[in-house]
Amino acid sequence: MASEEKPLVVVTCTAPVNIAVIKYWGKRDEDLVLPINSSLSVTLHQDQLKTTTTAAISKDFTEDRIWLNGREEDVGQPRLQACLREIRRLARKRRSTGDEDPPPLSLSYKVHIASVNNFPTAAGLASSAAGYACLAYALARVYGVDSDLSEVARRGSGSACRSLYGGFVEWQMGERADGKDSVARQVAPESHWPELRVLILVVSAERKLMGSTAGMQTSVETSPLLRFRAEAVVPGRMVEMTHCVRERDFQGFGRLTMKDSNQFHATCLDTFPPISYLSDISRRIVRLVHCFNAHHGQTKVAYTFDAGPNAVVFTLDDTVPEFVAAVRHCFPPESNGDKFLKGLPVRPASLSDELRAALDVDPTPGGVKYIIATQVGPGPQTLDDPHAHLLGPDGLPKPAA
Ligand code: DP6
Repeated sequence: MASEEKPLVVVTCTAPVNIAVIKYWGKRDEDLVLPINSSLSVTLHQDQLKTTTTAAISKDFTEDRIWLNGREEDVGQPRLQACLREIRRLARKRRSTGDEDPPPLSLSYKVHIASVNNFPTAAGLASSAAGYACLAYALARVYGVDSDLSEVARRGSGSACRSLYGGFVEWQMGERADGKDSVARQVAPESHWPELRVLILVVSAERKLMGSTAGMQTSVETSPLLRFRAEAVVPGRMVEMTHCVRERDFQGFGRLTMKDSNQFHATCLDTFPPISYLSDISRRIVRLVHCFNAHHGQTKVAYTFDAGPNAVVFTLDDTVPEFVAAVRHCFPPESNGDKFLKGLPVRPASLSDELRAALDVDPTPGGVKYIIATQVGPGPQTLDDPHAHLLGPDGLPKPAA
């Protein structure tokens, strides 16, 4: 392959954030990152939220190195090492099962990796899924691997394997002890449900929260409810959610999304010592959503929360302006009124007197810092424009423009 004679092989890719509507919480194998239940997620559009990663290999590099958001980080971190080991194993396997060629030199080359997010990590938005999906995808391109990347991404962060595809994605838990059948699969493409919208309500984080990895480990060890959920509840919900997505049944989709988020947070409370990721503002958002739906006599909006206080709200495009007006009413923007809404444009709307009266919440100024309006989006992409590379010809991060 001609590229293997080049002094530097470099690729740049982007990958999306995903938000689970049937949650992953708990591992049956910590090392291989195998879950105790299947999960299902929606891939968010990269116009609003994405990770960009450049990977470069060269015979001149003396060690693997990584820079995140411009800062060099420890490449020895176990999860990163697991991804690197796994991709090199796949690359070796591919070459050895192909022609009789000896393993190419590039397999022994060290890699330099640089990665940035287009959204503030400080906002508390899950970035590890997009980050590890992007890493897996970029490493695969640079080492010439075209097999399933679920395992590579999963070894970085479980939920990352769902960011390898666009649209609606399931992570099948699998049964095998070696994890070979624990893979992500697309349920429906991003074009499947064009009216679906996603609003991320960024809530001020009050304190440092327990990370997902440690949190779910404690839950597996102590929560009988979590075991019950994994064995008796999630299998049926996976079938039901897949059906709702295929039929574009928003009522069913929304109700099940909320119930599954609530059950996940119930297992956190059932964990000992208990974990609580929701804040007062999160609970006010829950109430707002239920008041809004009750007023309309149907499920028009649905919330879900991960391991933090931010709400992700699903709705259909014709409901967005009214719901955003309701959020503004309940959480009047403090100083940044003009920057309150980011992402997709939203038509201004006013609240009817009836809806205002139905929203049985005392306004909490500044409770929601801002909203990111987005939609369902595609999976990882490779960028062809060499200007997109985050590493220069010397293999070091380009100075920030
Ligand atoms: C609540 O994928 O971050 O967001 O596999 O330990 O890295 P690790 O955990 P992670 O957990 C995500 C948990 C969740 C639910 C979900 O995304 O399914």
